[in-house]
Amino acid sequence: MPILQDGTVRLRPVALPDDIDVAWPWYQDEETLALSQRPGTEAMSRSRVERMYQIQSARGEFYLIEVADPEAAGGWRPVGDVMLAPDTLPIVIGEPSARRRGIGRRVLALLIARAQELGWAELQAKQIWAHNLGSRRLFQSAGFEQAAAAADEGGLPYERYRLDLRRPLKTPEA
Ligand SMILES: CC(C)(COP(=O)(O)OP(=O)(O)OC[C@H]1O[C@@H](n2cnc3c(N)ncnc32)[C@H](O)[C@@H]1OP(=O)(O)O)[C@@H](O)C(=O)NCCC(=O)NCCS
Repeated sequence: MPILQDGTVRLRPVALPDDIDVAWPWYQDEETLALSQRPGTEAMSRSRVERMYQIQSARGEFYLIEVADPEAAGGWRPVGDVMLAPDTLPIVIGEPSARRRGIGRRVLALLIARAQELGWAELQAKQIWAHNLGSRRLFQSAGFEQAAAAADEGGLPYERYRLDLRRPLKTPEA
């Protein structure tokens, strides 16, 4: 797995077990859990985060999202995680202060380029809660189109988004 970066955002392969302590605080926040897992999800124990990270590492290309920061060790500060697989693209900017600053958009651009390099035909964001306006907006803005709308077994509405990589992609706005 390569390191992907655009100068501002870097995606580096998750290192286990070292990154568990970096990520654990992200999975204590009620809003983050409501958006990325399910409303009402309890703060995760360290071992639950570890299991989740092991599963994601085995299932796809699992990256830590880092932003350039001259004050951080090595010049990069971890702010979240993302997994790339053809049928799912879970992304979490775990630091609330790093949201709505264009980082998610940069992460998607790097991963779309990576998927094209791998010769994949499409990408899917499998289950985005209808209440997650930020995530819906992020994927729509990167050119993903809604492919389905349904509800999970608990009745919570979600949407599925799909990007056809065989079609010319929309040029990102400056
Ligand atoms: C959802 C998330 C990944 C978006 O990443 P981000 O870095 O905050 O998003 P960006 O700043 O790149 O914004 C991308 C677009 O989404 C919009 N957006 C982002 N957050 C938004 C919000 N909370 N409400 C409305 N729009 C939002 C931006 O305005 C931007 O729109 P534009 O392209 O029309 O200008 C991030 O906020 C996050 O991790 N949230 C918590 C966990 C989560 O929801 N994960 C996704 C699970 S499916």
